[in-house]
Amino acid sequence: MVSGELVKLRALEPSDAGAVWRWQGDPEVMRWMNDGYAQSLAAVGKRLEERPRNAYGEVLYGIEVLADAALIGLVRLRDAEPETGCAELDIYIGEKEYWGRGYATDAMRTMCRYGFEKMRLHKISLTVVTENHAAHHLYRKVGFTEEGRLRQVFRRDGRWYDMFTMGLLEGELRT
Ligand SMILES: CC(C)(COP(=O)(O)OP(=O)(O)OC[C@H]1O[C@@H](n2cnc3c(N)ncnc32)[C@H](O)[C@@H]1OP(=O)(O)O)[C@@H](O)C(=O)NCCC(=O)NCCS
Repeated sequence: MVSGELVKLRALEPSDAGAVWRWQGDPEVMRWMNDGYAQSLAAVGKRLEERPRNAYGEVLYGIEVLADAALIGLVRLRDAEPETGCAELDIYIGEKEYWGRGYATDAMRTMCRYGFEKMRLHKISLTVVTENHAAHHLYRKVGFTEEGRLRQVFRRDGRWYDMFTMGLLEGELRT
């Protein structure tokens, strides 16, 4: 368990399957993310039960609000390699009524600090659809910089969108 100011990051339990399944089936939450094929609640539960324990190469945490203990989303550091000191980050807040209250900002800062301090990463990277203004603003706010633009790599409702690749180096996290 890792504590921030507004949220704590904790391992997921099989009993969290219902929430994760609901978020992954919500078109508004998934609007700018790869949603893949719809999964049954049973399949999501099985995946949570059978996924390997958190380890250096993949750390998946639930985002829990300190004030009311609500599980509101997920944040993950994946593909970390000690040889390169690099990892990729994904985040979403699935409970929409918690949007705009600073929880993703705190979860981002907490997870990045964890990556740099505990995992001794040198760099954290991510990609974001250029039209996803909320996420793009969030990433810039905590210190990420655009490093490139991938043209037409995300398709939604018959339209192609560009994505930014963004990076945050050790020492660049804004608090
Ligand atoms: C993007 C997301 C993680 C932001 O979570 P959140 O908890 O609402 O974010 P915060 O409350 O910490 O706000 C972050 C900043 O974004 C800003 N913001 C929120 N919505 C915005 C919008 N539509 N356009 C521009 N800025 C926006 C906030 O004002 C805040 O900036 P400020 O402090 O300078 O005012 C959340 O909306 C989400 O999960 N969306 C769906 C999934 C997704 O797109 N994930 C990212 C995939 S790359």
